[in-house]
Amino acid sequence: MFPLTPSAFVRPEKARDAARIEALLNAAFGIDRRQKKTVYKLRDGVDPVRELSYVVEYKEGAGGLRDSGTDEKLSSESQGLQAPQPLSPPAPSSGNEVAATIRYWPILLPSGAAGLLLGPIAVDEARQAEGIGASLMTFSMGQARALGYSSMLLVGDETYYGRFGFSRGVTKNLQLPGPVEEERFLGLEWAPGALSNEQGVIRKWPPGKLLPHYKK
Ligand SMILES: CC(C)(COP(=O)(O)OP(=O)(O)OC[C@H]1O[C@@H](n2cnc3c(N)ncnc32)[C@H](O)[C@@H]1OP(=O)(O)O)[C@@H](O)C(=O)NCCC(=O)NCCS
Repeated sequence: MFPLTPSAFVRPEKARDAARIEALLNAAFGIDRRQKKTVYKLRDGVDPVRELSYVVEYKEGAGGLRDSGTDEKLSSESQGLQAPQPLSPPAPSSGNEVAATIRYWPILLPSGAAGLLLGPIAVDEARQAEGIGASLMTFSMGQARALGYSSMLLVGDETYYGRFGFSRGVTKNLQLPGPVEEERFLGLEWAPGALSNEQGVIRKWPPGKLLPHYKK
């Protein structure tokens, strides 16, 4: 559990969150998103990376950050977090509100190396523009890096994701297995060349294949 404010914290996703996450995704992307989006060709039938699936939970009755005092604002430490934090068991959720979700999927880069597809990320409309999205992004990206991943891909607005280091430059020689608006196909590499040296089509993670971070 990682506190964002006295009333909100990041914690790993649990099975009991499934319905609420589905509702957040329906509200953000529509119930027909699986038919419309090429990224679902890489997600369908593949489990998200469990260690990178997080939610933001607000304690019961907690107001939004925009209505709260100075103490309730996201700290610069939480927004800038890079190092992985130990995650304690989930707090009791009775009456609490799950207000945001982020998940990542494993993918195969053209060379056969493991990659990560970031998303979906969604924040409850009532809690948007309060820094939750940025906190979830920064926290989970730090966790991914600590697990040993050297790059990430996503489809989204560069005006938002650019602030986290994503750009179009490293995906120029890559394609997704279906149509996508090219300017929204973004990547980030922590190891030089992890994406920019790749060329070809991104493929689905094979069923049963061990995720790279499980290898010792
Ligand atoms: C996109 C999303 C995850 C951001 O989370 P959030 O908690 O609302 O965002 P933050 O508080 O961290 O950041 C707010 C900033 O992001 C900007 N922003 C939000 N969505 C944006 C978008 N699609 N494109 C560009 N900028 C965006 C806001 O204008 C604001 O800018 P500012 O910092 O200059 O004021 C959230 O708004 C959301 O779930 N939206 C609906 C689903 C969605 O569109 N997801 C994918 C986007 S491609």
